[in-house]
Amino acid sequence: MKVQNRYGKLASWVYHLDKPVGHSFGDLEYYQQRLTGCGGPILEPAVGNGRIIIPMLEMGLAIEGFDASQDMLEYCRQECMSRGLLTTLTCQTFEQFSYDRRFAAIIMPAGSFQLITETATAMSVLRKFWDHLQPGGRLILDIDPIESIVREANFARSWPVGGDSLLTLTCHRAEVDYVKQTTLSHLHYQHWRDGILQSAELDLFHLRWWGIDELAFALREAGFVDVVVSGGYQHGRQPCKSDQIISFEASRPSG
Ligand SMILES: C[S@@+](CC[C@H](N)C(=O)[O-])C[C@H]1O[C@@H](n2cnc3c(N)ncnc32)[C@H](O)[C@@H]1O
Repeated sequence: MKVQNRYGKLASWVYHLDKPVGHSFGDLEYYQQRLTGCGGPILEPAVGNGRIIIPMLEMGLAIEGFDASQDMLEYCRQECMSRGLLTTLTCQTFEQFSYDRRFAAIIMPAGSFQLITETATAMSVLRKFWDHLQPGGRLILDIDPIESIVREANFARSWPVGGDSLLTLTCHRAEVDYVKQTTLSHLHYQHWRDGILQSAELDLFHLRWWGIDELAFALREAGFVDVVVSGGYQHGRQPCKSDQIISFEASRPSG
């Protein structure tokens, strides 16, 4: 299988520096509000470094997660441990995950659903989410507007790490496929010490963009009902052109 969206050692280090536990794009408050009173259990696929799950655990929610990257999971485990928080974190993929119990809610913030680039795979993941929900359980996820995914994305950033070390990231947009609705960016991570390269990683970063109606149709096709689409993390407010984020909430029928 072609390795993509690997979130390896340097990518995870950068993610954890740039988006530490509790860092919010407005999503943390939104998901907390949507899950208030949810008795659980809750699942966060692609849990990453624990940015979202840890504040959720701290507010008393029964939430657990999985992720394909051992490096990301390691940050999450360490952050849980340092706070004395207990949860179950497993290394699984969207494509193959499995649990022997059902969840009251499944959440996917940070546009992680867009990491699934094949439409057929995305549909089977939605059906798997449905299967893993209790009757009446909710799936809540968000996506970026198409414009922000397709827009040219060449940039360079750096993060000082300790006195003489630096992490750098350069992003080069390699491809846009308007038929498959995907972009490929080359994310080049480097770790420098005293001006000498210590390690480097190239992440072939693929994203798929979704039309708003397209994803609402896909959710219904997968068996979900009561699909609510919201803009700017304001639940129930129809998305508008200027929204930087679109959220979807949909339920497995209770009957
Ligand atoms: C944008 S991060 C989101 C992390 C966290 N949910 C958050 O909101 O900060 C995306 C995560 O998806 C994970 N990921 C990528 N491909 C995956 C796959 N096929 N299955 C499961 N997780 C995957 C990455 O390892 C990474 O931790």
